Amino acid sequence: MKLLVANGPNLNLTGTREPHIYGSDTLAVINSELKEKFPVVSFEFFQTNSEGDLIDKIQSVEKEGFDGVVLNAGALSHYSFALRDAIAAVKRPVVEVHLSQVYAREEFRRTSVISEVCKGTVTGFGKFSYFAATYALSEFLRQ
Ligand code: DQA
Repeated sequence: MKLLVANGPNLNLTGTREPHIYGSDTLAVINSELKEKFPVVSFEFFQTNSEGDLIDKIQSVEKEGFDGVVLNAGALSHYSFALRDAIAAVKRPVVEVHLSQVYAREEFRRTSVISEVCKGTVTGFGKFSYFAATYALSEFLRQ
């Protein structure tokens, strides 16, 4: 099983950016823990600060042979209709992930324009959001 773990704008700063909100583990640590916890999954890890590059990556999911996507789109989750359209266009399940509990934060974070086109959402568990999303997605794909 081949999964893409994609992270959008500012997620490269995870570990140092507002650690009281996003935790103190870097993305590199989270990614290596994912590999340890899911040894049967073949992962590709992708991070970009560019909306267009993230859309290009989502568009390439079928061509690159991914079975599904774990996606933390960062702030793009709240307003990018272009990203939403890209997710809707691909025939592979995408799971929306957030480190923080977006529904307990500022008003603008309580809207996700991508949730409707995602298979599911995991929010608020820090790095465990990625682990839970990967677990759920891999079991869903295996059934
Ligand atoms: C985030 C939540 C977003 O609101 C924010 O813009 C981020 C990170 C999270 O993982 O909690 O960049 O997606």
